[in-house]
Amino acid sequence: MAWSNAEFREQYSKLANIYDPGMWLYRAIGMDIEAYRQAAVDVLLLRPGDTVVDLGCGTGLNFPYLHAAARESGRIIGVDLTPAMLEQAERRARKAGWANVELVEADMSGYRFPADTDGLLATLALATVPDYDDILARAASELPAGARIADFELQWPERWPTWLARFAAWLNRPAGVTPDIVHRRPADAVARYFVEVEAREVYFGAGIICSGTVPGS
Ligand SMILES: C[S@@+](CC[C@H](N)C(=O)[O-])C[C@H]1O[C@@H](n2cnc3c(N)ncnc32)[C@H](O)[C@@H]1O
Repeated sequence: MAWSNAEFREQYSKLANIYDPGMWLYRAIGMDIEAYRQAAVDVLLLRPGDTVVDLGCGTGLNFPYLHAAARESGRIIGVDLTPAMLEQAERRARKAGWANVELVEADMSGYRFPADTDGLLATLALATVPDYDDILARAASELPAGARIADFELQWPERWPTWLARFAAWLNRPAGVTPDIVHRRPADAVARYFVEVEAREVYFGAGIICSGTVPGS
């Protein structure tokens, strides 16, 4: 069964200190998560001065890419459930000297998007939340017309032999990947609620980067 918020918070409190170094596990198998982060930020089409929300921002590994795109005049809002992950994000922003990063401890299911949001990013985060479809529906109705969304997720790789896909899901168990969430498809929800939708599979179908625009522009 999928984890509750309390279970996520408890597990990510334990993982917070080792989350960033733990990324080497993906690198070791040739999965270039950093390139996927960059690609997700690229498709947000941010401009200097833009406001961007990073949902489930964790330790802030997307911030360098967001900062490079929105620049110092922009606003980066990182939202996460786990205080320990946000502490790491705060440390990252302080070390880099970024004064335009705001961190919000919140459940993304109830988070209200600032009215001037230009971009909404989520990486490795939306699929863990059971009501991701509602979150995306709300984002499409609350965000201003023309705002952009980008999401990067790992997904069940349909083309892989079942045993290998099961093994990959099992390896991600410490991050909250349970059997019932591996078939969730935030990219399908993005296609339901946004326009100008594009999606690209990466790592032989085990990852997907999708993007879209809030309708009405
Ligand atoms: C796998 S980490 C991804 C972190 C970051 N986005 C990245 O790409 O490295 C998942 C993050 O989602 C957060 N999270 C889980 N459920 C959440 C919820 N309901 N609302 C906000 N954040 C949540 C966890 O605390 C954790 O930091």
